[in-house]
Amino acid sequence: MSPLNADEPGGFVADHLDVGVFAIDAAFRVTLWNRFMATHSRQRAEAVIGRNLFECFPELPRGWLERKVRQVQALRNYAFTSWTQRPYLFRFDHNRPITGGVDAMRQNCTFMPVRGEDGSVSQVCVTLQDVTDTAIAHQALAASLVELEREKAEQQRLIGELEEAHMQVLQSEKLASIGQLAAGVAHEINNPIGYVSANLGSLKRYLDDLMKVLDAHLELAAELPTECRERVAARTAGIDVDYLRADLPQLLGESCEGLERVRRIVLDLKDFSRMGETEKVPADLHRCLDSTLNVVANELRYKAELEKCYGELPEIECVPSQLNQVFMNLLINAAQAIEERGRITITTGSVGDEVFVSVRDSGCGIPPDELRRVFDPFFTTKPVGSGTGLGLSISYGIVERHGGRIEVDSTPGQGSEFRVWLPLHGGAD
Ligand SMILES: Nc1ncnc2c1ncn2[C@@H]1O[C@H](COP(=O)(O)OP(=O)(O)O)[C@@H](O)[C@H]1O
Ligand SMILES: [Mg+2]
Repeated sequence: MSPLNADEPGGFVADHLDVGVFAIDAAFRVTLWNRFMATHSRQRAEAVIGRNLFECFPELPRGWLERKVRQVQALRNYAFTSWTQRPYLFRFDHNRPITGGVDAMRQNCTFMPVRGEDGSVSQVCVTLQDVTDTAIAHQALAASLVELEREKAEQQRLIGELEEAHMQVLQSEKLASIGQLAAGVAHEINNPIGYVSANLGSLKRYLDDLMKVLDAHLELAAELPTECRERVAARTAGIDVDYLRADLPQLLGESCEGLERVRRIVLDLKDFSRMGETEKVPADLHRCLDSTLNVVANELRYKAELEKCYGELPEIECVPSQLNQVFMNLLINAAQAIEERGRITITTGSVGDEVFVSVRDSGCGIPPDELRRVFDPFFTTKPVGSGTGLGLSISYGIVERHGGRIEVDSTPGQGSEFRVWLPLHGGAD
């Protein structure tokens, strides 16, 4: 008599379980078929018991099931399957409306070896647990997990944007206070420049007068008695009057020129430092470029020959101090890209209703994989302290706010060109 026969007390108990229970012998003949199995398969125990399982249910995954049963027989040990790997063994309907892509009752199965009287595995008993509810909950959970991940990524993106905005605020505040400082210094220098240049003017006039006096004296000296002439010669020995007369006006001229240069730099500094302003005004980009060049002259001088190829540029509506900042970033980057000594070329012109300012350098160039990232905030290849990685990202923002764009073209080892395009008639604010 089979240990699992439905007539036995064990079989009776199996009928009351809310779990499918069936058993098969070595020839895959059904030896047990509880009420759960009968209900869901719509095959009564009498119709199934004693028959080959695959004959009764040809749709079963035969190869897989045979391997599983043989494994239990050979190893004399339990085996399990979970719905996550194999959604179901028997295709049963679930007893409630099935939702969310769950099309049939999900099943977890346990294969148990049943030993005969001689100790060998004579049958394999299979329990089949309905886990459809769990599967549906699991799928809902997985969906909300995906949604959560999406939200997390979105939040991450927003945090990134916030950080970027924050850094831009910090950076422009820093620039604004540098600007204020520069404007203050420029204002202070303006005052002494004023009186030094006024004094130089007077000095020149006085010198002209003094020269006239000197000439008169020199002319008359010839008529002095010898003794007088010798005394004068003794007192003025070693003074080369001709040289003085030639060099003095030259010295004065150079001083005036130098002062004029200082005055221009101070003006440019003042121009440059109007950082806070955001009002668009008609401006001459060449003037912007020249005042920026004056400010960064020192950075460029030792690195590069500067070549200016200015074309015809009409005035454009822009915020000059902001564009100055863009030009400064491009020029300093160009100088920094040059290892020893090279060339920086600034070209301007207009095409259609756009103007362009291009800054080209003969520096190290940018590898293709970095080219996409140069405008990213904090992207820098420069050592800590010398690069913040913000110059181009801020410039990009400024040009974008002007309704323009920046194009880059670079060949590693040969150089790079950054070309700023701006609309003639100011972009939207
Ligand atoms: N003219 C250029 N030549 C070569 N590389 C450049 C040039 N301009 C920018 N780059 C690259 O782009 C990066 C980002 O530039 P930027 O935003 O100005 O930040 P930073 O100059 O502080 O590094 C630089 O670190 C450099 O690698
Ligand atoms: Mg830079």
